[in-house]
Amino acid sequence: MTTTSPTRHRARAERPLSAEAAALATGPAAHPLHPDHTPTGQLAFGAFFQGVNSSTIWRLPASGDQVAWDSFEALVRTAERGKFAAFFLGEGLRLREHRGVPFELDVAGRPDAQTLLAALAGVTERIGLVATQNTTYNDPVDLARRLQTLDLLSGGRAGWNIVTTDNAWTGENFRRGGYLDHADRYLHAEAFVQVAGQYWRGERIAHDGAHYTVRAQGELPRSAQGSPVLFQAGASPDGQDFAARTADVIFSPHGTLEAAAHFRRSIVERTVAAGRDPAGVKILPGAEIILAATEAEAEEKVRWVRDQQVGPEQAIALLEQYWGRDLSAFDPDGPLPDVPPEVAESGVTRGAGFQFAKAEELTRTWREEATQKGQSILEFARAKAGARRGTFTGSYDTVADRLEEFARLGAIDGLNITPWLIPSGLDDIVDELIPRLQERGVYPSDYAGSTLRENLGLPAV
Ligand SMILES: Cc1cc2nc3c(=O)[nH]c(=O)nc-3n(C[C@H](O)[C@H](O)[C@H](O)COP(=O)(O)O)c2cc1C
Repeated sequence: MTTTSPTRHRARAERPLSAEAAALATGPAAHPLHPDHTPTGQLAFGAFFQGVNSSTIWRLPASGDQVAWDSFEALVRTAERGKFAAFFLGEGLRLREHRGVPFELDVAGRPDAQTLLAALAGVTERIGLVATQNTTYNDPVDLARRLQTLDLLSGGRAGWNIVTTDNAWTGENFRRGGYLDHADRYLHAEAFVQVAGQYWRGERIAHDGAHYTVRAQGELPRSAQGSPVLFQAGASPDGQDFAARTADVIFSPHGTLEAAAHFRRSIVERTVAAGRDPAGVKILPGAEIILAATEAEAEEKVRWVRDQQVGPEQAIALLEQYWGRDLSAFDPDGPLPDVPPEVAESGVTRGAGFQFAKAEELTRTWREEATQKGQSILEFARAKAGARRGTFTGSYDTVADRLEEFARLGAIDGLNITPWLIPSGLDDIVDELIPRLQERGVYPSDYAGSTLRENLGLPAV
């Protein structure tokens, strides 16, 4: 394994922490959040290509094609120019539906992650290639073999984002296994990862568990990084415990400083309880970054991005998921619907945030909130679109200062960035933000090594 130390810029004297960060710190600068956690003060970036979703703007002339090779190649090359640790693909094993038809842009489809990453391995040299792959509907040896192949082909750059997938409609797409209870999904996942690990270590596998019966023999050589890096996404207490026992990196949904600090503490405690070194579990929240040269321009840009992301139809569709009924008669420029929801629990078409919320309570709270803020349906939906993501907006300098603070507090180890435009959405991050983070000494000036494990600062396996 090659290990070269990247040069770190130390041009600036350290600024004092903001009042917000200082209030969150409960310990000295070496351990601000937890006595068992020492911030590295370094950030690693991943580029998260979700494919179909409600945050990428596909309708602009500058948007690429969601399945065309050129889009992926351009995006991954920009990420590698910016020394991103990883290029990351999401997964959905069945199209989301809304009132009986594919939801909004889902109909466009999303290419298979492993096939695509194998092709991208051929046009890149250092960047990690991470496939989101589900443990409920795959088979462990089959998936382990494909991931190990990617790891070998890429010279030790493969990662696996382990997800359990939280919705019944995906279960309906699979005859065997089907939809599992929440706790069962994580037990299933744990057995899955255990078998995959045995396969990667070349062991003879005789696994007879509640979830799998496997007779197999690991057959491929170890990769340059030993085995694929294990990412995990799913932030419930069960999900956190699972990550603390098995994951190298957590793809978390906590993008504010306060939420990220609490999540770090929770993960450190669970990691220590699992008998692992907390330094071996990195946290990279998903994030959207909207930048401009000045604050005023950035504010204007945020408004424009939200307008592009959420039009009148999307606003009505968003509310319909939570009301569980047809709201097409309501004016998007008028107040929130004053009718009760038709469901007990809110729907999950968009997957994020409010799933399984009690619909009656949620819709009442939303109506009150919108009335109080004087928001129309459209304005409310646009505000919610931003609030549901970890969003960093502002001038290049403000966002760099903010991220420096996240790094120094040790709240996060980096970000998984979803560009709102494909393929040019990483350009200003690479050209304007990253140089400022390098000046502040919190972002590497080069790759630390040739494997994903090295570039994330993870111990060898
Ligand atoms: C940041 C993040 C990204 C996720 N990405 C995916 C994905 O691409 N595909 C998928 O099937 N599930 C994805 N999930 C959902 C997880 O599979 C999981 O089902 C869900 O978070 C519920 O688990 P939990 O109750 O432990 O949070 C993601 C979850 C998080 C938090």
